[in-house]
Amino acid sequence: MTAVLQVEALDGGYGKLTVFRGVSLAVARDQTLGLLGANGAGKTTLLKTIAGALPSTKGRVLLDGRDVTRMPAYLRARAGIGLVPEGRHILATLSVRDNLALTRAIEGHRPDLPPFEHRVAEVYAMFPRLAERASQLGGSLSGGEQQMLAIARALLLKPRVLMLDEPTQGLAPIIVQSLAVTLAGLKGRFAMIVVEQNKAFLEQLADRILQVRSGTLVAADGRPATDN
Ligand SMILES: Nc1ncnc2c1ncn2[C@@H]1O[C@H](COP(=O)(O)OP(=O)(O)OP(=O)(O)O)[C@@H](O)[C@H]1O
Ligand SMILES: [Mg+2]
Repeated sequence: MTAVLQVEALDGGYGKLTVFRGVSLAVARDQTLGLLGANGAGKTTLLKTIAGALPSTKGRVLLDGRDVTRMPAYLRARAGIGLVPEGRHILATLSVRDNLALTRAIEGHRPDLPPFEHRVAEVYAMFPRLAERASQLGGSLSGGEQQMLAIARALLLKPRVLMLDEPTQGLAPIIVQSLAVTLAGLKGRFAMIVVEQNKAFLEQLADRILQVRSGTLVAADGRPATDN
């Protein structure tokens, strides 16, 4: 497998507190990996560490074979690691359009990117509800619309690997279903890691599911994960 993202024996946490250890995984460019785990298992900490928002204490993160372990988060985002964070992190007092425009701050040195307006038109075509609400304030969007906006914002930087942290959290079942359709439409365009507690949702979407259990990765059947 040619992995776009490879994580090798990674440890991380907060200061002296190690939250996850020995995590190894690899995701191919067209593959969707599901990570299931209970509250507090370390899922968010792991994704933030892969994104570079938290430092790792051991191990390596490789993007297209290039070691990015010491690279700061904004450069990893620029290099193609996209994160749709838990809780969406939409700016409540900015409009939909201005929330999207925030990505312009980190898009420098990406001559491969089409002009911003083209990319915005592309995400609006994908999420017409956002186009209709371009001037509406982020804080007044519904939960499902905020999730769309968070995904759209990550897509603007044309990620090589897109990581989504509990995208179904707080959404009504019907919205969860439409999100599953949206993400299924993106599947195969780039690598995805979807963290969830909703197993049924992951089973619809992921090519492969691993579990995060007390900070280690195990296979869906509870045996040690061996695919890395
Ligand atoms: N800023 C922090 N400082 C210290 N400990 C933290 C910090 N953030 C999280 N933790 C701890 O790290 C552990 C893992 O948290 P994390 O948020 O990664 O779990 P999670 O699997 O994403 O859980 P959830 O499903 O509730 O989102 C928890 O015990 C949590 O209390
Ligand atoms: Mg979490």
